[in-house]
Amino acid sequence: MKLCVIGTGYVGLTTGACLASIGHEVICTDSDSSKIEGLQHGRLPIYEERLPEVIAAAAGSGRLTFSHDGNAAIQAAEVIFICVGTPPDADGKANLAAVEAVARQVAHQARGYRLVVGKSTVPVHTGEQIRRVLTTHSRGQLEFDVASNPEFLREGTGVYDFFHPDRIVVGCDSERATSRLHQIYSPVLEGKFSCGWHAKAAAQCGWKPPAWVATSVASAELIKHASNSFLSMKISYANAIADICELAGADSAEVLRGLGLDRRIGADFLRPGIGFGGFCFPKDLSAFIEMSTELGYDFQLLREVQAINARRIEQFMRKVREELWVLQGKTIGVLGLAFKAGTDDTRLSPAYAVVRELLRLGARLRAYDPQAMPRAHDELPAGVHYCERAEDVAEGAEAVLILTEWPDFRAAKWTEMARRMTRPLVLDGRNLFEPGELEQFGFEYRGIGRRSPVPPHTRPHSATGN
Ligand code: UDX
Repeated sequence: MKLCVIGTGYVGLTTGACLASIGHEVICTDSDSSKIEGLQHGRLPIYEERLPEVIAAAAGSGRLTFSHDGNAAIQAAEVIFICVGTPPDADGKANLAAVEAVARQVAHQARGYRLVVGKSTVPVHTGEQIRRVLTTHSRGQLEFDVASNPEFLREGTGVYDFFHPDRIVVGCDSERATSRLHQIYSPVLEGKFSCGWHAKAAAQCGWKPPAWVATSVASAELIKHASNSFLSMKISYANAIADICELAGADSAEVLRGLGLDRRIGADFLRPGIGFGGFCFPKDLSAFIEMSTELGYDFQLLREVQAINARRIEQFMRKVREELWVLQGKTIGVLGLAFKAGTDDTRLSPAYAVVRELLRLGARLRAYDPQAMPRAHDELPAGVHYCERAEDVAEGAEAVLILTEWPDFRAAKWTEMARRMTRPLVLDGRNLFEPGELEQFGFEYRGIGRRSPVPPHTRPHSATGN
């Protein structure tokens, strides 16, 4: 089927490339011509694992193209996926200007039938607004359906998540729209992938058929917001439990592990630290709270999820000051700048919030991140020395702070780092290490809600008891 994807950010580019890789003919377009220019020359505007290979294969087969001409793309494709940004306004509401602009463009350019699919995360009833714009501005020249098809892609693992969804959610206002979307996603629903590397991985990772959730447009829009806000709530809950563990002398990893073993709760998204960032959770949480208020429901629970998250930075900084006292003039090593591991994205990164506070207090920073340093160079204030290797952040440092949960940091040469530091102290803002792991290299270690070190008889063991 011929598809058009409008917006080539983390969602649009990953979705367009993967839709092409399962056999569709996809034209990706974006109002940012530099992005399209780069993509036409094989330069990706984002870092996503496996995406370069997927794009190269799909573009090489001629099924994936990047075009500056959005009008022509809309005229050529029967199904149009709206993947444009919905950034927060000053009041936290989602800014839908880009969504409306695309709806108008479709109304003016398309003739015959179109299925217009909202994939960007939008407040409930946005589908109705899109319908109204299409009706008003097409002047009866366009037959159309409007659908919502929210994405659940995590940054850094978007390609994997596209092929391994727990569910594919479509909100449609006609059977015709539902069946077209079912046809589009059938290779994913049946596990038939055209890109060979994936079929192998699918077999290895015990791929299972995703659920197909066909519902109303409004319900599909709400499933997205409800999902993201619930995941945010799990994280804030884990952070609150970690703080209680510190006060009670319990161990957060033990308590949260015991909690997560309940199959009704699940272990994922219960990792305490300096909080959630990125351009999804914080933005979607604000948008959901504002949307609920407009509907007449004051979502106090989610306001507290936000408040707990906002306090993580000041709580971590309190730990830093407890250990280092005056920060003015002190050298501090920072491992991690991206909002999470596996991505170069630094938008609303908690690591940035810590770095800015350390700079404000006069600390001298040496930082390393496997992917995010080019962005950090442009985005962070002067005063940060960017290191080529993780180990180099240790030079003359009074402490090393772990701010992003990159697994790479576990493999750093910690013996070398202890030797190079003024004080071998690690403040682990992501509980990347177990207490006791770094002490063997001569470090003092402080985690989030961790007892140091956890006595051997209480360490996690396999179900077989060995
Ligand atoms: C999220 C949702 O997971 C995804 O389904 C949705 O489509 C988009 O938003 P993403 O924002 O890419 O994905 O990152 P995610 O992996 O969810 O992590 C979000 C933030 O929470 C990161 O800052 C991460 O460090 C933090 N986090 C995550 C925790 O602090 N603790 C956890 O246990 C998990």
